[in-house]
Amino acid sequence: MQLTDCSDAVHALASGSACGKAILLGEHAVVYGQPAIAVPIVDVRAQARVWAGSPGTGPAVYAADLAARFTPESDDQRGTGLVLAAQAAIDAFMGQGPPLIDLEIELRSLVPMARGMGSSAATSAAIVRAIAAHAHLSLDPAVLSRLVYLAEMHYHGNPSGVDNTVVAFERPVWFTRGSAPVFMPVGVSLHLLLADTGVPSRTRDTVAQVRAWRERDAATVDGLTAAIGALVCQAREHLDQGDLAGLGQAMSANHALLRLLGVSTPALDTLVEAASAAGALGAKLCGGGGGGCAVVLCPSGRADAISAALRRAGAQKLYETTIATA
Ligand code: PMV
Repeated sequence: MQLTDCSDAVHALASGSACGKAILLGEHAVVYGQPAIAVPIVDVRAQARVWAGSPGTGPAVYAADLAARFTPESDDQRGTGLVLAAQAAIDAFMGQGPPLIDLEIELRSLVPMARGMGSSAATSAAIVRAIAAHAHLSLDPAVLSRLVYLAEMHYHGNPSGVDNTVVAFERPVWFTRGSAPVFMPVGVSLHLLLADTGVPSRTRDTVAQVRAWRERDAATVDGLTAAIGALVCQAREHLDQGDLAGLGQAMSANHALLRLLGVSTPALDTLVEAASAAGALGAKLCGGGGGGCAVVLCPSGRADAISAALRRAGAQKLYETTIATA
């Protein structure tokens, strides 16, 4: 079978889903060995379903949201990482269940693309989970994380690994590049809003821009990333103690440092300022920057008023979520 739209298709053989994420603190600095704190956005997800494909077609991914079908032969860059994730899963699970060649995979995602919410990791993880389910495998999150990282390398060049980790484990994580992730109990519920500027985030470009600056002036960039790392450490203590005000202050201070690092935009700054003026505990850009979303920490009962302020300040879309106490 070749998919064009699965809504009326026969039952899928298997399915899998994966969540989006937000980096609470530490993006960009995490590329240079500083810690970051990331949380799963479990109610905003990508969903993949697997069918038996036509012989000889290889793994094909039909991205329903793009109305586009990608195969290993496609030269459409939008699909390369998706097919790569499918192929990585097939190679890893081959011989452990039913034949995995020529799978046809349908993908739908509520995680917005290029908004710093982990769309590439979520779509890859959903595909890998669906293929593992088809192979009747119970998938170790560490294995999932490693397979998703392979696709992340395609999207981001030299990713830190924070996105694939938080998406694969679906737990708040303290992440330091090259070290085992530490899963963090969250001592207090976090009410978060993600406010979308409507402008695509250019993670690959902003990461390259910071790297180019660091090659010219390592002292300045390392000073900024070290200062971000110090805020991430403070934020961990605030989280442990359930100190939401302290956490929010660290997030806002992190945004100021990301501005100095050159990865914010006027639209992001406007959202961050509007959120703070409306009573948010803290706000910052989230992910690669250059566009994408701001993440806002709301005091209990203030999310509606802050949402209204964010809309007035230009937010194109809002996502509201709660990170529950562990
Ligand atoms: O834009 P996102 O959601 O892919 O997040 C990128 C986070 C960075 O720290 C900027 C890059 C990385 O590899 O960690």
